[in-house]
Amino acid sequence: MLKDSFGRIHDYLRISLTDKCNLRCVYCHPANSLDGHHDYMKNMSAAEIEKIVSIFVEEGVNKIRLTGGEPLIRKDAKEIIERLSKFPVKLTITTNGVFINEFIATFKQAKLKSVNVSLDSLNKEKNFSLNKRDEFDRVKNNIDLLLKNDFHVKVNVVVMNGINSNEVIDFIDWTKEFPLHIRFIEFMPFPGNKWDHEKVFTHQQILKIASEKYVVEKLSDDEHDTSKKYFVPNHKGTFAVISTMSEPFCSGCNRLRITTDGKMRSCLFSKTETDLLSALRAGNDITPLIRENLYGKHYMLGGNNDEQWGEKETASNRRSMLGIGG
Ligand code: GTP
Ligand code: 5AD
Ligand code: SF4
Repeated sequence: MLKDSFGRIHDYLRISLTDKCNLRCVYCHPANSLDGHHDYMKNMSAAEIEKIVSIFVEEGVNKIRLTGGEPLIRKDAKEIIERLSKFPVKLTITTNGVFINEFIATFKQAKLKSVNVSLDSLNKEKNFSLNKRDEFDRVKNNIDLLLKNDFHVKVNVVVMNGINSNEVIDFIDWTKEFPLHIRFIEFMPFPGNKWDHEKVFTHQQILKIASEKYVVEKLSDDEHDTSKKYFVPNHKGTFAVISTMSEPFCSGCNRLRITTDGKMRSCLFSKTETDLLSALRAGNDITPLIRENLYGKHYMLGGNNDEQWGEKETASNRRSMLGIGG
């Protein structure tokens, strides 16, 4: 069992399959990032991912989420999903949704039941200005396709004050006829993403807008949930808020992360990481490294405090969102 120094059991592993993406979301992509030459040897192969996962599963991990960049652009994404489907874990994925139609059969074979899809605006032009690519129709169609195939679908909306914060009601309206689970995410700071306090649209602001139009009722949250869940009576779907900035939910954290180059990070906001892949390749036992990394986990937000959010990205050894996978 993997426990941190605060006694929190960690049984949820998020694996980034790639730090590349076919979109350029403004809140995610570092301004100076270059998708170009890539040293694939640096990154975990499908077999290495399977091996590393087997060790985490032995240590009690029972939920795995595949993330990116965009996980489905990896050429061996299907092979990885197939390999991981053999473990006794709940396998899930977070994707920008563009390629889902090519993966429905693979998801079904792997018994993957729940898919989280990012979509930040219901307006095609606004979406283009946020993602810098014209993929709105494909993503929308793929969400429909997931619903038709009975997947549990969560839609991740990063809400930025004055940019898409006027769409809160449109997204909730969408849950009237469709069994979708909208999650409004407070904009978080990462190196290169031009974050500032003014752009955060908070949990309370979202609730206020929702309550002006609808009767909003609270759903119960699980101990490990990242989101606070709500519903509008008679709507088929629900909505929730991921309130990292205004009301952190670190006390129930059970999440571990591995980057595509095989580095373990015990928090989304960690300033340190442990190179599991090099150790594995050298033939070493990585279990002690995993335990040691987790033992160093801070109680909240990777040990960052309010002033450090504004810290210049050059001074920080935090990774961009693209390199962590959310
Ligand atoms: P579920 O397993 O469906 O609850 O998904 P999730 O919310 O853990 O994952 P998803 O990949 O859909 O991420 C949604 C948002 O939650 C993203 O903005 C993530 O960065 C954020 N998130 C996920 N895990 C953590 C975490 O440990 N801490 C914080 N602060 N945010 C997180
Ligand atoms: N703040 C909040 N959420 C973010 N995501 C990416 N960057 C940020 C950010 N700066 C979300 C994406 C995706 C999930 C993995 O993380 O929208 O749904
Ligand atoms: Fe790509 Fe997701 Fe980042 Fe958007 S948020 S650029 S879809 S990795």
